[in-house]
Amino acid sequence: MTSEAHAYSQTLGEENSVWFTISPFVNSPDPMGVLKRLLARGGGCVPIQLKSERIVFMSEIEHLRHVLVDHVDNYAKYFDGLKPIFGKAMITIDGVLWQKVRLPQQPHFHPNIYADYVPHFMEAVRAKKNDWGALARSGETVDMVEQTWCLAADMVCRALFDREVPFNPHAVFGAVKAYTDASQHRAIRLKKIAGGMSEVSADEVPAHAIGAWLSLPDAVIAATPWQNREQTLLHMMQAAEADPSKPEWDHQQVLDEIKQYLWAGTETTALTLGWAFYLLSQHPEAAEKIRLEGIEVYGDRAPSADDLDKLIYTRSVVLETLRLYPPAWAFIRSAVASDEIGGHMIHAGDRVVVLPYLIHHSEKYWDDPEAFRPERFEPGSMKKRVKYSYVPFGAGKRFCIGGQMAQMEAALALSQLVRRFRAEYLGPIPAQIAASVTLMPKGGLPFRLHELS
Ligand code: HEM
Repeated sequence: MTSEAHAYSQTLGEENSVWFTISPFVNSPDPMGVLKRLLARGGGCVPIQLKSERIVFMSEIEHLRHVLVDHVDNYAKYFDGLKPIFGKAMITIDGVLWQKVRLPQQPHFHPNIYADYVPHFMEAVRAKKNDWGALARSGETVDMVEQTWCLAADMVCRALFDREVPFNPHAVFGAVKAYTDASQHRAIRLKKIAGGMSEVSADEVPAHAIGAWLSLPDAVIAATPWQNREQTLLHMMQAAEADPSKPEWDHQQVLDEIKQYLWAGTETTALTLGWAFYLLSQHPEAAEKIRLEGIEVYGDRAPSADDLDKLIYTRSVVLETLRLYPPAWAFIRSAVASDEIGGHMIHAGDRVVVLPYLIHHSEKYWDDPEAFRPERFEPGSMKKRVKYSYVPFGAGKRFCIGGQMAQMEAALALSQLVRRFRAEYLGPIPAQIAASVTLMPKGGLPFRLHELS
């Protein structure tokens, strides 16, 4: 373990970390139910005073709008404890620096470019279909989130970096999960408080996981280009680094942006697909509709970007999955100056936690919110939606840069994989949630794959 990795080892579990405070929820059988009851009792805005700081939980649209849109400059990004994952990448920074880092990357996420990315996504999906063919023949149990994580990493590497995945994605998936599991950090923190730190072995410390993570950007840069494309996000970032008029783009910025995409652009898409397969296993009629739609729209050819636009039902399944299981279930910020929200004073330095999960599951905005109904997202039904009642990709200027890309990746992968395989879910029903840094299924999502004839 490097000293850099060791220095990071307990940060998610420090007492003044929001993750430390919310980690008890992780092990509750129903973390979102606990939050829902807490927020309902507190009228949608609940401050919790800790020894060293105050955390204010919020679950109403007007709070979300206040923090993410109307007063966005008063609420700085909060990434304590996640520094090793992201470094100083765009997702963590604010102000003019954030603008200078985001702006040149924007064209690589413009809708016009996605048609170019679709064949690269398809290549990753083809490889996954081959893997799944072998897994279906062996009949072994797989963790669906691990499967979809590896697929999403492959799509990001090919489309944005022009690389085939230059690392073992299964090992990296395990490492990232070990690090972002806040309850692990909490356990270590509690051992430290009890004076038992000497009992904490190196294996228990999430730092050993981070060593693997920190090596990824160099592996990406060093890998042989896949198709020698000129216009890639990686090229753009390297050109910025070489440009003396862009001092913000130092080498570390490039490394950190790569890490950011391998997390923010991978784990979120992976969870969307993982939860979608879980929902489809409980609604086989929806899986059948996805199959029939694929046959009707693109038949036996490889789908194009235009075809993806026509996969209305498949895309609606993706959107409904993101409503029920938003991977980013909490938006966390740090107040810059005092303010007032929901009748509560906000002091400079308070941590503000907005809960999109509760907005997505609120009876105020959604009919029968716990029901899986992709039809809600079909054209025509969407007009009735209340603004900011659906925010899986955030809101305001810090809206997800890759939201459109993620929807294309997920619709393509779902359409292709569901057409060829039936995924049989083997875990508890309903699947349990672990409110980790992202909305994880507790204990994973065990599946057996069956190839359709
Ligand atoms: C279904 C998949 C995805 C979900 C649910 C998702 C969700 C989000 C959310 C909620 C935010 C804003 C967080 C906040 O305001 O605190 C965000 C930001 C971001 N996402 Fe995504 N994301 C997804 C896919 C992607 C993909 C595919 C990429 C890129 C390949 C990506 C890259 C980013 C980046 C770079 C940011 C930071 C933007 C900024 O700060 O300006 N995401 N994402």
